[in-house]
Amino acid sequence: MLRTYYIETHGCQMNEHDSERVAGLLHQRGLVQVFDPREADLFLLNTCSVREKAVRKVYSRLGELRARKRENPSRRIGVLGCVAQQEGRELLRRAPHVDFVLGPPMYHSLPDLLDDLVSNAPPPAGAVFAAIDASKFLEDTGPVRRCNHFRAGVTVMEGCNRRCSYCIVPFTRGMERNRPAASILEEIRRLADEGYVEVLLLGQTVNAYRDPQRRGYRFAELLADAAQVPGLRRIRFTSPHPRYFTPSLIQVIAGYENICGQVHLPLQSGSSAILRRMHRQYDREFYLGLIDRFRACRREIALSTDVIVGFPGESEQDFEATLEVVRYARFEQMFSFKYSPRPHTQAAAWHDDVPEEEKSRRLAALQQLQREIQLEIHNDKYLGRTFEILVEGPAKDGRRLSGRTESNKVVNFSGDSLPGEFSRVRITGYGANSLLGEPLIDCRLVETAGEEVTWSASSELRA
Ligand code: 5AD
Ligand code: SF4
Repeated sequence: MLRTYYIETHGCQMNEHDSERVAGLLHQRGLVQVFDPREADLFLLNTCSVREKAVRKVYSRLGELRARKRENPSRRIGVLGCVAQQEGRELLRRAPHVDFVLGPPMYHSLPDLLDDLVSNAPPPAGAVFAAIDASKFLEDTGPVRRCNHFRAGVTVMEGCNRRCSYCIVPFTRGMERNRPAASILEEIRRLADEGYVEVLLLGQTVNAYRDPQRRGYRFAELLADAAQVPGLRRIRFTSPHPRYFTPSLIQVIAGYENICGQVHLPLQSGSSAILRRMHRQYDREFYLGLIDRFRACRREIALSTDVIVGFPGESEQDFEATLEVVRYARFEQMFSFKYSPRPHTQAAAWHDDVPEEEKSRRLAALQQLQREIQLEIHNDKYLGRTFEILVEGPAKDGRRLSGRTESNKVVNFSGDSLPGEFSRVRITGYGANSLLGEPLIDCRLVETAGEEVTWSASSELRA
C-alpha cells in the first residue's frame, strides 16, 4: 500500500501549480501528503528543464535519492514535469531506481498508475510520457490541493505555439490549449468565496489566450471579467509575451485597481538581430514602444523581465544593445541567464560560439547594472512611502515577517500579522533585492482628562 506522498517542486509557477493538481489527484485516492521526505511511501520530483542547469540538478538530486530507496526498497520514486517529458526513458536508464517518469500531459493517469506501482508491475508503456493532444482544449483541470490559503494559481491555458529558437517549452508542454472562460471564471469566483485574496492567472503565453468557445473573447476580456469578481484584492498573471500586449489589454491593466500594477515583459535580448534569430516576433523598437506605453499609463506599472546572454552569434555590440534597453527600461526585477542549448530546439543546431567565460562576464556585467538600478528604484520610489503588504509568513531571518507590495516587491518588517492578512508598512530601508519596513502604528485618542492624554496603539492598521 502506498499511504503517504511527498512532492518536491522546482521551477516556475506553472510547475508549482501542477504539483497542487497532482496532490489533488493523490488526495482523491486517499493518499496523505507528508512534509518530511523520510515519511513518504511515494516520492515525487517535479522539475523544470528550461535550462540545462536545471536538468543537471535533477540528476544530482536523483543520485541522493538512491540511498533513500536502498533504505526502504518499497518506497516509490517518480519524476514529473518538463524534465520527465524531455528525458523520457533516458531518465529510467540513467537512474534505474526511479520507478516511473510522467510528463505533464499524462498526470491524469497517475492514480491508475498507483496500483501498478505497488504490485511492482512495470509502468504501462503509454503512461511514461506521451505526445500532447493539442486538439483538446482544457475543460476540467481536475482536483487541486492548494498549499496556500490566500493566493491561488488558476490555469488559463497550457502549452505554447511560439517557436522561440532557444526554448524547449513547446516540446515539453506541447501546443497551446485554452480553457473556456466560463470555467476559469467559475473557479475564480469559487476561490474568492473561499476567502482567497490573490489570484495568479497561469499560462505559458498567458496573454495569447483566446476563449475556445467564444469568438473575440481574449485575454483583455478575461482579465477585466476576473477583476470584477467580488472579493479579489489582487490579480496577477504570468507569463506573458510582449507581442500580445494589445492596447485594450494595457487599458484593462491600467483601469482596474485590483489588477496588480506589475507586468513581466520578457526582453531576452535588446538587439534586433538577435531577437530575429530568437524568433521572438518583435524587435528592439517594438519593445521600447511597449515600455513607453506602460509608462504612459495613469497608474505606475512596475516592469520585470527575463534576459538571456551569450545566445549564438551575440556580439559585444548586441550585448551592449541589451544593456542599453535595460538602462532605458529600469526594470524593477530581472531574471538573467546564460544561454544553454536545449534538445529539440532550433538553436541547438547552431554553433554555441560565445565562450563560457564570456557568457559569465556578460551575465555579471548585466547583473551589476541591474543591481544599481534596483538600488536606485528602492531609494527613489519606495523609501519613506507607505505600502499595503500582503503578508506571506516569516522572513528568512526568522525574526521578521515577509510580504509583498502589489508591485511584487518583497518587504520584511516586524509585526504580528498572519499570512494572508494585509498590513500597511512604511519603508525604512532597502537592499538590492528586498525592502525593510515598519508597520504603521494605529494611534487613536481614547481618553483625555485635563491635560493628560492617553493613546491606544495597535501594532498595525489592518486594511
Ligand atoms: N538558455 C538560457 N535561458 C533560457 N530561457 C529559456 N530557454 C533558455 C535557454 N535555452 C530563459 C528565458 C525564459 C526563461 C523562463 O528562461 O529567459 O524567459
Ligand atoms: Fe518558450 Fe518562446 Fe513559448 Fe516563451 S514564448 S514558452 S520563450 S517558445
